[in-house]
Amino acid sequence: MTALPQILMAASEALSSHAGDPVAVEALLQAVFGIVVDEAIQKGTSASEKVCEWKEPEELKKLLDLELRSQGESQEQILDRCRAVIRYSVKTGHPRFFNQLFSGLDPHALAGRIITESLNTSQYTYEIAPVFVLMEEEVLRKLRVLVGWSSGDGIFCPGGSISNMYAVNLARYQRYPDCKQRGLRTLPPLALFTSKECHYSIQKGAAFLGLGTDSVRVVKADDRGRMVPEDLERQISMAEAERPWDISGIEDMEQEQLPSFAWTVSTPPVAFLVHGYLLGAGAAIHLSLPDVKGTFGSGAVPFLVSATSGTTVLGAFDPLEAIADVCQRHGLWLHVDGSGKGGGALGGELEEEPLTCLCSTPSRADSVAWNPHKLLAAGLQCSALLLQDTSTWKKASVERVGSDILLTLTQNLLKRCHGSQASYLFQQDKFYDVELDTGDKVVQCGRRVDCLKLWLMWKAQGSQGLERRIDQAFALAR
Ligand SMILES: Cc1ncc(COP(=O)(O)O)c(C=O)c1O
Repeated sequence: MTALPQILMAASEALSSHAGDPVAVEALLQAVFGIVVDEAIQKGTSASEKVCEWKEPEELKKLLDLELRSQGESQEQILDRCRAVIRYSVKTGHPRFFNQLFSGLDPHALAGRIITESLNTSQYTYEIAPVFVLMEEEVLRKLRVLVGWSSGDGIFCPGGSISNMYAVNLARYQRYPDCKQRGLRTLPPLALFTSKECHYSIQKGAAFLGLGTDSVRVVKADDRGRMVPEDLERQISMAEAERPWDISGIEDMEQEQLPSFAWTVSTPPVAFLVHGYLLGAGAAIHLSLPDVKGTFGSGAVPFLVSATSGTTVLGAFDPLEAIADVCQRHGLWLHVDGSGKGGGALGGELEEEPLTCLCSTPSRADSVAWNPHKLLAAGLQCSALLLQDTSTWKKASVERVGSDILLTLTQNLLKRCHGSQASYLFQQDKFYDVELDTGDKVVQCGRRVDCLKLWLMWKAQGSQGLERRIDQAFALAR
């Protein structure tokens, strides 16, 4: 335990391990930068060096001396530790580092990452991140232009998996806004559709968001890994045909007559009747409500299709035009997961042209996930969720009870879906436009800055430079 006088003295100093010694801070950081440049960047990208000095885990633990002790170490020891970390790590910028998903080192993106780390701010309000709030807005706007949208919304997320989960959550919220407050009990069983070649984050997202992995209906893919739209249509129609429940006894009742919570079931209760919505899941279960009898079926309400532009294993691009037609016919949210190879969208098309590769019908998707940290080599993490987010009123097709129809405004969906208006952070009487406080669009509180590395790289190389890089990657892959 540290003695109280020492604690009090320390409290009056700046919070820093080199408190009051700027010379020591500078010497440490100059030395670390030197090691990074020599070991991680020069050697780490040289073909005559190893990609990785591989060690078995037990040996590596000893070499790294991982234990954390009560006494601190000298600067020399710390610098040796930095060298060891780099030495035994995989050099992902090495020309012989081949990975399914990302590789290469872009110097401008790295410069952006160094500045981001050094400034260490959080992207939630304009007052703490004025430059990055405006920059994020512009980068997202530019990405939307490439997708083919002249307006909309978006946010940088911690990876493509999370971007996909946001899309699922937004689609569900857009259809059932009530679920934000009242949770899963307000929902019927739902179904989302994706191909068998989709990324596993769709399954994970279904579990994480409480939909359950059974809610993911797997659509056939052709021999090149592309979703088969006819099978999508068939599966959606099948889900629509199987009614999630039989409410024949209830439909004729007045709202007030509906019991809000009363039934007996022989199996564990997996179904609810709440405020007039009858909710259920699983195989057929007979309910005995005071005045009504209902039967639960195995159907589910379709709400989202997740197509993939660049599947993880085969690199297939789903036929978006045909899929968008299906979504339109059934009133479903179309999400396009371009996280894997979506950066390829930049290739082959001239700057400012809507991207035919990523999205043959981009303007018809509701959301797009795009990972510049993969093909574009912007560095982990850099993943954008883009939303078309129009300002028109849409009629959401909810399960009707009596004459209830739910109308949903799709504008500002991110904030309405995830916001909680914390008054200590998002005060509404600030001296600037509080729309610039983007923190309530996401489920995180603190959020790292992910836009600078992409912005700086884009500034340095222009869209044409990025495009050339992608074209080259595709050419090398042939
Ligand atoms: C198609 C696709 N979607 C999503 C992801 C997940 O992206 P992240 O690793 O950024 O979470 C990947 C990653 O490989 C992917 O290939």
